[in-house]
Amino acid sequence: MQVLFLMYHYFAASEIYNAIRVFIACYVWMTGFGNFSYYYKKKDFSIARFAQMMWRVNFFAAFCCIVLDNDYMLYYISPMHTLFTLMVYGSLFLFNKYNEIPSVLAVKIACCFFTVILIWEIPGVFEILWAPFTFLIGYKNPEPSKVNLPLLHEWHFRSGLDRYIWIIGMIYAYFHPNVERWMEKLEESRTKVRLSIKVTIVSISLMAGYLWYEYIYKLDKLTYNKYHPYTSWIPITVYICLRNCTQQLRSSSLALFVWLGKITMESYVSQFHIWLRCGIPNGQPKFLLSFIPDYPLLNFLLTTTIFLLISYRVFKLTNVLKDAFIPTRDNNRLYQNFIAGIAIFVCLYFSSFILQKIPIV
Ligand SMILES: *[C@@H]1O[C@H](CO)[C@@H](O)[C@H](O)[C@H]1NC(C)=O
Ligand SMILES: *[C@@H]1O[C@H](CO)[C@@H](O)[C@H](O)[C@H]1NC(C)=O
Repeated sequence: MQVLFLMYHYFAASEIYNAIRVFIACYVWMTGFGNFSYYYKKKDFSIARFAQMMWRVNFFAAFCCIVLDNDYMLYYISPMHTLFTLMVYGSLFLFNKYNEIPSVLAVKIACCFFTVILIWEIPGVFEILWAPFTFLIGYKNPEPSKVNLPLLHEWHFRSGLDRYIWIIGMIYAYFHPNVERWMEKLEESRTKVRLSIKVTIVSISLMAGYLWYEYIYKLDKLTYNKYHPYTSWIPITVYICLRNCTQQLRSSSLALFVWLGKITMESYVSQFHIWLRCGIPNGQPKFLLSFIPDYPLLNFLLTTTIFLLISYRVFKLTNVLKDAFIPTRDNNRLYQNFIAGIAIFVCLYFSSFILQKIPIV
């Protein structure tokens, strides 16, 4: 996914636009799935653990925003994952003593759906709710054709596309242990039974996948975006069914892709600046970074190598700094670090503010 996603940006491959929407939905689905599994099983709602997750998602984006004076929304993947992580955390954290009771959990899931419907489906609610946070999630696209869009437009669009899929991820995570047990039983059952069940599942999946591809995926970009929030669970479910249908398929993976998957966040943010580039501050990247102008392939190899190595380095750095600033089992120190961080930030902010006022001769 990440490879295609990056390629889409690099080659401006607008013909796979709809596929890219699905990939982002997959990420958000994983946010729901991973975080639900974690909080549901481990019941670790500690502030340290939560802060570490937030650090991981936001550190590099925040760094780029501060250094380059860009909007947080330019790196929309960070606010989006932050929001959905918060929603999963919140829904499991409230009354977490009763999480084991299925009916309570069902009510929680229903509340999630209800919240999303309230915020995103009822016109006007979104704007009222998010207006106080415009300083954080507003985005002023400097492109002439888009400069007049409302500040919250980008946030509305991005968060709206995947508004339901994190809940689907949570539901799948809830049923995952049961399905896994059932699959183990299935693998042990007689060949005839096993084969017939698998063939049924595979053919239903293929059929659903085909129908989705024919009637939804092939729609033009704007129409597709309208259907996307309600249909993105179809390709995801089809993929899960097909990928899990045999033991071999289930356990095979490419080391390169596993490696790339780990640095998703960093490669996503750094591609804006050290792989692609834009001509204006705060703009979407529109050009390729070019060191060897007349040799596009050579240039691609060179910039890609640099880009991936730096992304990996940033990934490591993010983790090292995370461990340094957010101690796992020492809330006192976490609190001190937090206060110290804010103090340093305020000092730096004001000194740069004053420095800027000094006229340059
Ligand atoms: C929760 O979601 C965030 C954002 O996608 C992710 O970085 C983090 O690893 C997830 N946590 C777990 C335990 O899967
Ligand atoms: C499906 O396969 C994936 C990848 O190997 C695995 O993580 C997951 O647990 C499997 N799902 C079930 C329900 O067994």
